[in-house]
Amino acid sequence: MKFFVDTAEIDAIAELNDLGMVDGVTTNPSLIKKSGRDIIEVTKEICDLVDGPVSAEVTATDADTMIAEGRKLLEIADNIAVKVPLTWDGLKACKTLSDGGAMVNVTLCFSANQALLAAKAGATFISPFIGRLDDINLDGMDLIEDIRTIYDNYGFNTQILAASIRSVNHILDSARIGADVITAPPGVIKNMINHPLTDKGLDAFLKDIAAADIKIL
Ligand code: E4P
Repeated sequence: MKFFVDTAEIDAIAELNDLGMVDGVTTNPSLIKKSGRDIIEVTKEICDLVDGPVSAEVTATDADTMIAEGRKLLEIADNIAVKVPLTWDGLKACKTLSDGGAMVNVTLCFSANQALLAAKAGATFISPFIGRLDDINLDGMDLIEDIRTIYDNYGFNTQILAASIRSVNHILDSARIGADVITAPPGVIKNMINHPLTDKGLDAFLKDIAAADIKIL
């Protein structure tokens, strides 16, 4: 399973990247706004830092402008994935850009039928939003499961990029179902390491190390 980091904060990406935890990065207009940075500038910095796909989202809603924006984003670096919304215009842009050899991430996916359309339009990634479905009392994981089944039934190569991840359980469930990629805020990825028995066990070992004066160096 690939780990993408869902942020435009350079320091947070660098910290996880140094640990080998970053296979790619996703951004969106809200994350760019939060960073307070220029989209082209910050995206270039992220692409210089990370080898894997870096999703940068278009701002237009009509296909022609989305394609023009996508082409401009693609000039930033070879590892750009153009992110387009799951609308007919977005799918038209997806088809054109992916036919031209670009990676395309189709975002704001909330149904398996939408995911099927994105795959047929040649999407490299489909981004189903788990947390936002949970927010309205639907089960985001059911969507990941449905898309996995449908893509496997027909051999679609589009990668399932589980997005809008809010907890470590979303990551675990995505891994169980077989999502190809998860994208999560850095804090959620960092929380994956927590276990009280690890802390308790280490505490006991440290006490014994001190009591027996065990030294290696
Ligand atoms: C994914 O590409 C999106 O940027 C992101 O996961 C959205 O998450 P949110 O619902 O927490 O805003």
